[in-house]
Amino acid sequence: MKIAPSILSANFAELGNEIKDVEKGGADYIHVDVMDGHFVPNITLGPMIVKAIRPLTALPLDVHLMIENPSQYIEAFADAGADYITVHVEADPHLHRTIQMIKSKGVKAGVVLNPGTPAELIRPVLQDVDMVLLMTVNPGFGGQSFIPSVVPKIKQIREWANEVNPSLEIEVDGGINPETAAVCAEAGADVFVAGSAIYNKSDRGAAIEELKKSLV
Ligand code: DX5
Ligand code: ZN
Repeated sequence: MKIAPSILSANFAELGNEIKDVEKGGADYIHVDVMDGHFVPNITLGPMIVKAIRPLTALPLDVHLMIENPSQYIEAFADAGADYITVHVEADPHLHRTIQMIKSKGVKAGVVLNPGTPAELIRPVLQDVDMVLLMTVNPGFGGQSFIPSVVPKIKQIREWANEVNPSLEIEVDGGINPETAAVCAEAGADVFVAGSAIYNKSDRGAAIEELKKSLV
């Protein structure tokens, strides 16, 4: 069970310290939300920021691309130091090619589904990816409420993965707190993104511990 704090809810003027704070507090990955103002109605950061934070932490950088034409930017994010790159199925009609591109850069590859997108769309690539990210809110902003109807999708993908890719990581993102994390863990998720549930607390270590406790 891994906790991936999302820096979307961090204080960007103090980004380096905000990352070190969650690393010290027991985080497993750093979740980096990349938004382009087209695929989602918000704009965040690009490869320059990923490159700037890379030397500040030993933790894997889990880069979630909420952008159109993701394949165009794989090389830049890989060269900037991403350890995982996840691309939205809804933004990419050539998934195999993009997954191969990510892997050829020595980066772990993942695919992402919005809450309203059926699990079937990623079944053909399940054996090719390291991670499936299931959005439990509609992407674009932190602090939204968990959408419970995604839970059966977690179960379904874990069942399929048990057949073809038992080491697949299933990550959930959006509205994750100790209660919703426990529900997702029960369904088969093993990586938990949390933005506001960690960064809106003054003691980030305690927030991470509380999340981990809910998962045992
Ligand atoms: C939403 C992002 C999330 C976001 C989660 O579009 O992909 O990673 O930071 O924030 P919380 O945990 O506050 O829902
Ligand atoms: Zn995210």
